[in-house]
Amino acid sequence: MESIKLDITKAAQFLNPGTVETYAPQVAKAQEALENGTCQGNDFLGWLHLPSETNEAFLSEIQTVADTLREKCEVVVVAGIGGSYLGARAIIEALGNSFAWLLKDEKNPTLLFAGNNIGEDYLHELTEYLKDKRFGVINISKSGTTTETALAFRLLKKQCEAQRGKDTAKEVIIAITDATKGAARKAATQEGYKTFVIPDNVGGRFSVLTPVGLLPIAVAGFDIKLLMDGARTMEKETAIDVPFEENIAARYAAVRQALYTQAGKKIEIIANFQPKLHFMAEWWKQLYGESEGKQSKGIFPAACDFTTDLHSMGQWIQEGERTIFETVLSVEEPNKKLLFPHDEENLDGLNFLEGKRVDEVNKMAELGTRLAHVDGGVPNIRVSIPKLNEYYIGQLIYFFEKACGISGIVQGVNPFNQPGVEAYKKNMFALLNKPGYEAESKAIKERL
Ligand code: PA5
Repeated sequence: MESIKLDITKAAQFLNPGTVETYAPQVAKAQEALENGTCQGNDFLGWLHLPSETNEAFLSEIQTVADTLREKCEVVVVAGIGGSYLGARAIIEALGNSFAWLLKDEKNPTLLFAGNNIGEDYLHELTEYLKDKRFGVINISKSGTTTETALAFRLLKKQCEAQRGKDTAKEVIIAITDATKGAARKAATQEGYKTFVIPDNVGGRFSVLTPVGLLPIAVAGFDIKLLMDGARTMEKETAIDVPFEENIAARYAAVRQALYTQAGKKIEIIANFQPKLHFMAEWWKQLYGESEGKQSKGIFPAACDFTTDLHSMGQWIQEGERTIFETVLSVEEPNKKLLFPHDEENLDGLNFLEGKRVDEVNKMAELGTRLAHVDGGVPNIRVSIPKLNEYYIGQLIYFFEKACGISGIVQGVNPFNQPGVEAYKKNMFALLNKPGYEAESKAIKERL
């Protein structure tokens, strides 16, 4: 099997020769701090060796629960937000059929996502859609207290029990949460739901290779053992003893830091040329945004879907403020084959492309875009993925996690906390007069 590859040549050319290599000692120190558990946030390093420490028996247990849901449900709603949602969605969309929910002969249950917003229409429409469906719920919340997820779960639990009866509901509602704390744990204990634990030492955005991601991915019909094999390979390939020149996580962390600190590149745009990777970029945005954006620093993680967004954001990228760099996710070989068709009249003048793979056109769009953006002053990093399958996606996930941990440490922040996300919650609860928030309610209302 191959591995994903990293090409930084078109980014390094924006720096003085040898600059990326000057970051090697800092990166090595960060890797040591991760391995020795001496970095900030060292109580959240459980993700670091998850691939090599997760055993087959545990994966089989997850698969058994997934099989029950697959047998008993035509729809499974995953309730969760942020780290309790994005990884599963990213992988399911990357691997799945783009029109899965519309396929008549689809054998896999439809996976839907809720608990990641407070949209009244969204929730109403979801409950309407589920009315005549045999549905189950995977309720995912580490804290067990997240408002968005708790709201969705209240609605879904009631509806599931009403439609399928309490006994069946017990079989098709699964909780993934803290071992002891939080409302999700309490509800699971009270109702007798099957549960999986989110380890204490794994933060939400690093939790996709725990049951948080693995159960929904298995329910959707994908091979979680192969996913973990890929992640395990990348764990080895980015290990501390792999030299800087060969270690793609170390090199990605180094080049990003060099562009940020030495070339004034404050924004990283992750760009894909496959619509299936849209949510992979959403997951990546959370991973890097929450890990690095603190103490008034951090590269702003943005995302574009190409070629789609070349017809909207392309202008800004080509000629706007030169504070950006780009990381392209490139899939080398599509899973399906489609040729550019012949047209008798050739009104669009595109018959010269006749008979070519659609992907060949896409690849030239990618290359043309990379060259144009580099000409326009945008450093370009390329991550190439041999194919969209479980094995390579497992590699990709671990690669980004490892590079993210290193990057945050090199930047001098705690990559594993997210104190900033509490600010909106505090205000929201004060505005909603949550008991216990009386002083905050008074203070905030005086500001309105
Ligand atoms: O990365 C994080 O920690 C967050 O995105 C959380 O995953 C998110 O806020 C959901 O939290 P919880 O799982 O506690 O409901």
